[in-house]
Amino acid sequence: MIEYIIKIDNVKFKYEKDSDYAVNGISLNIKNGEFTAIIGHNGSGKSTLAKLINSILLPSEGKIFVKGMDTSDDSKLWDIRQTAGMVFQNPDNQLVATIIEEDIAFGPENLGVEPAEIRKRVDDALNTVGMYEYRKRPPHLLSGGQKQRIAIAGILALNSDCIILDEPTAMLDPSGRREVLETLKKLNAEGKTVLLITHYMDEAVQADRVIVMDKGNIKLDGTPKEVFRNIDEIKRYGLDVPQVTELAQELIKEGLNLPPDIIDVKELVDILCQ
Ligand SMILES: Nc1ncnc2c1ncn2[C@@H]1O[C@H](COP(=O)(O)OP(=O)(O)OP(=O)(O)O)[C@@H](O)[C@H]1O
Ligand SMILES: [Mg+2]
Repeated sequence: MIEYIIKIDNVKFKYEKDSDYAVNGISLNIKNGEFTAIIGHNGSGKSTLAKLINSILLPSEGKIFVKGMDTSDDSKLWDIRQTAGMVFQNPDNQLVATIIEEDIAFGPENLGVEPAEIRKRVDDALNTVGMYEYRKRPPHLLSGGQKQRIAIAGILALNSDCIILDEPTAMLDPSGRREVLETLKKLNAEGKTVLLITHYMDEAVQADRVIVMDKGNIKLDGTPKEVFRNIDEIKRYGLDVPQVTELAQELIKEGLNLPPDIIDVKELVDILCQ
């Protein structure tokens, strides 16, 4: 197994000749099995980076490898998209069939997978996202969170190693957001690599690794604790930090003896109660 499922090597990308670089010299390695959150203000280049990884866009400079495959190699396009499947923001634009199980079967059918194997993959994928009992229903009757779980199941049915999600919870209510996050954590625990683009800091703190983007560059990269303690810097990039981190740092300014990298309410409560 290759240790890095995604290798990004000094990549630049611009949409038009005279425009600024949307991605401006990014190098980044993602390990197999890692759960990474990417955060950044509007226009910082997050979606562009995701599309570059998925070979929807090609680098203007530099190279990207997905499981060792060069994203600018035409002959590898479908292999790459199968290895690193993408889930988008709008749950209504991703489901194509009139029945849920047919929707999930669509990908493997297109790859020419044997019918018996398709049946197994569809059932496994539906079970994994907790939607098996809905398999005969039409997708339009589902909630937003359920639709996103079906979109995730569609990628699982391709046997993808990695799932890239571009703000999958942006159009969901809090319970839908929770459903999707729980699903992603479960998949990650089972070995899938997850790359989650999000505007929600409470989602980012649940990742193994947080990457902060600004103006097409990576500004911070580390564990949630390493990243979110940099409150002033993160705010300069137009982002929020978790409320509990900010509260803890206010308390430190007031003279309390606390660690500066608290990201979890329970952690703060436990320390204050000691
Ligand atoms: N199709 C396009 N044509 C031209 N410029 C584009 C296109 N898509 C994005 N851009 C520009 O590229 C830059 C990066 O955009 P991108 O969509 O990657 O940012 P983002 O971080 O995903 O933002 P958001 O949080 O709003 O989704 C922005 O300046 C944007 O205006
Ligand atoms: Mg975007």
